[in-house]
Amino acid sequence: MELLKVENLSVSYGLSRVLHDVSLAVNSGELVSLIGRNGVGKSTTMRGIMGLQPPRGGSILWKGKQIVRRAAHRNARDGIGYVPEDRRIFSELSVWENLDVARLPARGGQTPWDEDRVFALFPDLQQFRDRAGGLLSGGQQQMLTIGRTLMGNPELLLLDEPSEGVAPLVVRQIERKIQELKQAGLSIVLAEQNLGFVLALSDRCYVLEKGAVVFSGTARELGRNQDIQDRYLHV
Ligand SMILES: Nc1ncnc2c1ncn2[C@@H]1O[C@H](COP(=O)(O)OP(=O)(O)O)[C@@H](O)[C@H]1O
Ligand SMILES: [Mg+2]
Repeated sequence: MELLKVENLSVSYGLSRVLHDVSLAVNSGELVSLIGRNGVGKSTTMRGIMGLQPPRGGSILWKGKQIVRRAAHRNARDGIGYVPEDRRIFSELSVWENLDVARLPARGGQTPWDEDRVFALFPDLQQFRDRAGGLLSGGQQQMLTIGRTLMGNPELLLLDEPSEGVAPLVVRQIERKIQELKQAGLSIVLAEQNLGFVLALSDRCYVLEKGAVVFSGTARELGRNQDIQDRYLHV
């Protein structure tokens, strides 16, 4: 089933247009990546889908229903979860409180998320459940940000650069956790610059450059396409 279908999405900041007719689709259970260098529009695409940056034009179908320009809190209640790249946790609240305030009702058919399920996925968080969020390491904060979003019982997770700014060992750990979430049936859109991470996890990939999609294909096709990698992905 086609869960999300984005067509010709255009987004501007003031007078400067940063997304140009971006189209992409996510099927139920798929992990789809948006990959490209810094500043190509990955986060803007996610913010546009989530309803945090109203698009100038285009269409966003969620389970066949038009949701373009619908408010973010309504999208969250309707099953779209967003993990921002800047890890917006409450630094004065404890780990447990950070999870508690993010709770949204579960939707039918899914195993609902609660603190215990988040702690089972991220044992580090359980260990620090009473510690202030601001005292966690970068990797732990990333896990808490993901855990918070899971508390909203999303069907689709928009995951913005989870590997950014965390130690290589923790990147591997996050990679395994994302794999577990996918195996649990969650559909995921992953924004990344890290090609290895993307190829290890994705079913399909969209390469962005200057706010436009310049390649789309399976992870295997991207992995074999040295020309696209050289042109758009290597620094
Ligand atoms: N709030 C903003 N105001 C103005 N320009 C922005 C804003 N956010 C991002 N941009 C610009 O939009 C472009 C795309 O940014 P972004 O979506 O953050 O890219 P990425 O996530 O791929 O690094 C960049 O040129 C960036 O400078
Ligand atoms: Mg970004």
